[in-house]
Amino acid sequence: MNDILKRKKRHLQVTQNGDMDYFDQYKLRYNALPEVDFEQIDLQTQFLDYQLAFPFLVSSMSGGVEQGNELNLQIAEACNEARVAFASGSIRVALGDPDLLGAFDLKDKLADVPYLINIGAFQLKDKKIQKSLVSAIKELRVDGVFIHLNPLQEVVQEDGDTDWRGVKSAIADFVQVASVPVFVKEVGHGLSTEVIEELSEWGVVGFDVSGLGGLSWGHVEADLQNEPELANVVRNIGYETPWLVKEAYATNAEWLLIAGGGVRSGIDILKSMILGASMATAALPIKMAAADGKEGVLKLLNHWKQQLQVGLFALGQKDLSKVRGNSDLLF
Ligand SMILES: Cc1cc2nc3c(=O)[nH]c(=O)nc-3n(C[C@H](O)[C@H](O)[C@H](O)COP(=O)(O)O)c2cc1C
Repeated sequence: MNDILKRKKRHLQVTQNGDMDYFDQYKLRYNALPEVDFEQIDLQTQFLDYQLAFPFLVSSMSGGVEQGNELNLQIAEACNEARVAFASGSIRVALGDPDLLGAFDLKDKLADVPYLINIGAFQLKDKKIQKSLVSAIKELRVDGVFIHLNPLQEVVQEDGDTDWRGVKSAIADFVQVASVPVFVKEVGHGLSTEVIEELSEWGVVGFDVSGLGGLSWGHVEADLQNEPELANVVRNIGYETPWLVKEAYATNAEWLLIAGGGVRSGIDILKSMILGASMATAALPIKMAAADGKEGVLKLLNHWKQQLQVGLFALGQKDLSKVRGNSDLLF
């Protein structure tokens, strides 16, 4: 097994959560006189030409090892059934290897929902990787690509990629040749408004802020190196997810913002939208639910959908049309 595969396998064993729930800082307003029929509440959301049952995307989780492939397959099937979007884990390990690439050939399982693949921004510095990725986009019939920014994780990781010069132009170049919408995410420390601003100038269409509050990859890597002090330092670097969403929405209400990092319920999805996100995403809770296979993931997604519906009812809203950026709905 090569080094990347070994590392991915270790990542799959990770189950650390953030120790703060930053969404708890906000509470939903309550309307005891709702002019709404609960049964008719409409949660449907348009995303990349697909109609989702509710505004949710399952966030990227590593593939490329048998365990990861099985995980991806079960989660993908659950996403299609529940009608939420699906993003795979990093495809890096499979580029140029037809056997491994087969594990990402999931579009038939995801016929009714958007399917996005994932790659590290650093890898895009290599033009050969960009070329293989462009071929993979066509071969796998994906609906979009997520580029992850993980500089903190890389500098903490043993033999990580530490020279980040040239990553900006690599992203800008890739957007020009990608042929599908390109999204950017962080991995638990957050995309600041300044970074989103730059990315949007290059044509990146959407941003998963992936901030503090959930799994932090910088922290995970430091922990894996058995460096508890470094892990503690790293865990506090970055921005809290709800704060980031609010700040980015206030800067530019046109940005397609996805709230990721610490989303742990349907109410967190709703709070994310009130703060300014168009949808929300999560990884770790989905991975934990997948311990019970596809059914476990479906159960979690249905619970979150129901919680979102209850939350909207409590606000006296019949759908999501008046929710985004409406901070009067929180106190
Ligand atoms: C098992 C696992 C594997 C992950 N692999 C990737 C990956 O390959 N690429 C990526 O961009 N993020 C990866 N992530 C990070 C998530 O996409 C997400 O940004 C992060 O976990 C924060 O969200 P959460 O708090 O809901 O878990 C992974 C997360 C988990 C739990």
